[in-house]
Amino acid sequence: MFNAQLDQLTDYPFQRLTDLLGGPATPDSLVMSIGEPQHRPPALVARVLAEQNAAWGKYPPANGSPDFRAAVVEWLNRRFALPVGMVDADKAVLPVAGTREALYLIAQTVVTPGQGKPLALLPNPFYQVYVGAALMAGAEPYFVSGHDGPSSVPDFTTLPDDVLSRVKLAYLCSPANPQGSVADLDLLKRNVELARRWNFVLCVDECYSEIWDRVEPAGVLTACAQLGGSMDNVMVFHSLSKRSSVPGLRSGFVAGDVRLMAAFARLRSYGGAATPMPILAAAAALWRDEDHVRENRDLYRTKLDMAERIFAGRFGFTRPAGGFFLWLDVGDGEKAALELWDKAKIRVLPGKYLSRGDVGDNYIRVALVHDLETTERALTLIAQTL
Ligand SMILES: Cc1ncc(COP(=O)(O)O)c(C=O)c1O
Repeated sequence: MFNAQLDQLTDYPFQRLTDLLGGPATPDSLVMSIGEPQHRPPALVARVLAEQNAAWGKYPPANGSPDFRAAVVEWLNRRFALPVGMVDADKAVLPVAGTREALYLIAQTVVTPGQGKPLALLPNPFYQVYVGAALMAGAEPYFVSGHDGPSSVPDFTTLPDDVLSRVKLAYLCSPANPQGSVADLDLLKRNVELARRWNFVLCVDECYSEIWDRVEPAGVLTACAQLGGSMDNVMVFHSLSKRSSVPGLRSGFVAGDVRLMAAFARLRSYGGAATPMPILAAAAALWRDEDHVRENRDLYRTKLDMAERIFAGRFGFTRPAGGFFLWLDVGDGEKAALELWDKAKIRVLPGKYLSRGDVGDNYIRVALVHDLETTERALTLIAQTL
């Protein structure tokens, strides 16, 4: 009765955590396992949604509204110093109902199941959706660890030709979930060139690009601009969930190679969720506003200061360059997660659930998504308990 390929998927990490801990979170638990920002959503969201009330009565076009696409292009040009005209608002941008569905569906767009032995390159550790996307599309996941130590992002240019010749798509996440490392511009450029040489699709997940500590992360579209302005073989994924603390809005976008965008749009017109008009309007307003993003970033920085005070010199603590996770070496991540739950009612995610081989086994991922007071209480308890 079921698609046999489903047997290849492990349970989702949060289900595995629930199984490990013997049940779901309770009202008195401190949930540090999920990367769900709890900062107050910007006030403009409620205002714009109320103004757009009548638009709930319309089916939204799959490619969004011209105003949404224009707001995205303005933001991309500003943030990544792109030449005007490089990203065509009508052909190279699509709204998505959260980047998760887009990261999943892109694999269906580019992999022909059963044709050759297609590979999908994945970072290790990784955001779990990449694995499910690759497997369900009929590609074999090929995991690549950090190029500069276990906590860095991978550099696919180090792979041998017999691997590269089978690659159909590659996922790169920068800033990386879970470990917070960032790809520099040279690495991005090298990998764009590699994707073109071997004709695979480089999918760069930049949904944490606006949450950074000291240095604004580079983006793959800047790499494209510096390589001459073509976006061939490149897709970039951006989300409002983390940037604007609205994970419930389910709003992001994809931009890149116009040939890929056309194929992706065709697939999505059958299986994708179109973003409702009021949400497109709120999203356009959010992409045009940077004040709330700066405030958000400052709050995360204050929490990193707090984490540094509490963990410096322990558990291999380093300040993540981007994102909002701590990636702590606690010796045995599952054991530590159990201990934190049993003794302190704190939920953290074992690194094992976000990795293959033994790359993440020693680690726990701790999401700094709560207010300052809750975060301080949880981090202090983690340090005391472990
Ligand atoms: C690395 C990464 N990419 C993509 C997503 C998907 O975010 P959304 O679907 O809310 O845009 C997440 C969410 O946790 C993530 O951590």
